[in-house]
Amino acid sequence: MDLLRYDFGYEWPWTWGHALAAAVFTLLAVGLYRARWRRTGAVMAALAAWAVAGAVIVNLVLRFSLPIVLPTERFLTGGEGRVLDAGAGSGRSALMVLTARPRATVTALDIFGAEYGIGGNGPERLLANARAAGAEARLEVRVGDMRAMPFEPRTFDGAVSAFAIDHLSRPDVERTFAEMTRVLKPGGQFLLLVINQDAWVRTALPFFVHHGYFGGRAYPERWRSGLERAGFRVIDEGTQPGTLYFLAENAPPAVSALPGASTRD
Ligand SMILES: C[S@@+](CC[C@H](N)C(=O)[O-])C[C@H]1O[C@@H](n2cnc3c(N)ncnc32)[C@H](O)[C@@H]1O
Repeated sequence: MDLLRYDFGYEWPWTWGHALAAAVFTLLAVGLYRARWRRTGAVMAALAAWAVAGAVIVNLVLRFSLPIVLPTERFLTGGEGRVLDAGAGSGRSALMVLTARPRATVTALDIFGAEYGIGGNGPERLLANARAAGAEARLEVRVGDMRAMPFEPRTFDGAVSAFAIDHLSRPDVERTFAEMTRVLKPGGQFLLLVINQDAWVRTALPFFVHHGYFGGRAYPERWRSGLERAGFRVIDEGTQPGTLYFLAENAPPAVSALPGASTRD
C-alpha cells in the first residue's frame, strides 16, 4: 500500500485536516439532531459529507501522500538519460520519473530553505522515499537554487518541475526557464506541472485560491508563452486532477539566426 510505503511529509492539516473536520462535524450533527436542532444538524451533516469528500480528494485524487502520476507518456520516450527535478522537495516528482522511467537517473535539486507544507523538508526525507521505491541508486540530491542552477550547460536529457516554479515571482519564473534551457541538451524535454484550480481543488481546498504569480486554471496561456519566450517549443499540454502540465522541447535558435555565434552557451 503506497500510502504507508512513503512519507512525503505534507503536514497534517493538508493530509488529515479534512478527516478531523469530518469527525467534528459528524459529532456536532449527531448531538444537534438529538437535541432536536434538526436544521443546524443538517448543516453539520452536509459539512461532514464535504469533509469526507475532501479527505478522499486530497489523499487519493490529488495524491498529496503518493508519487505523482506521469501525465504524458511522451516524456522521455527513450526511457533513459539524466533527468533534473527542479524543486524536488520530498520526492513525489522525482519518484514519478524514477518509477515511470526505470532506466533513467534523477538529479533532485532543491533549495530546502523553507518547508512549503513539507515538515522537515530536507534531503533525508527525499532519499528515504527513493529507498522505499528501491530507486536510491538512481537518485542524486543537490542543494541549490533553480534560479541559478549549479550545473554545466547541456547537462540533462530531460527535466521536470512539479508545483515548485509556481511559487516563484514572474521574474524568477523567467530566470528559471532560462536556466532550464541552459542546462538541458538541445532537444531535451521539460515537463512542467503547476497547480490548476480545477473542480477537485476548489471542492477540497476552497481557501486555496492563489498559488504563485501565474495562478492556475485561468492562465495556461501565460505558462505556454513564458516557455516559448525562453526558447522552448510546447509539444503537449493538458490536465490531470489539480494539475496543469506542459511538455516542452528545448529548441535552440537555428545557428543561422545568431549572427557571429555558433551555440547559446
Ligand atoms: C510544494 S513543494 C513541491 C515538491 C515536489 N516537487 C512535489 O511535487 O511534491 C515546492 C518545493 O520547491 C522548492 N523550491 C522553492 N523555491 C526554490 C528555488 N528557488 N530553488 C530550488 N527549489 C525551490 C521548495 O524548497 C519545495 O521543496
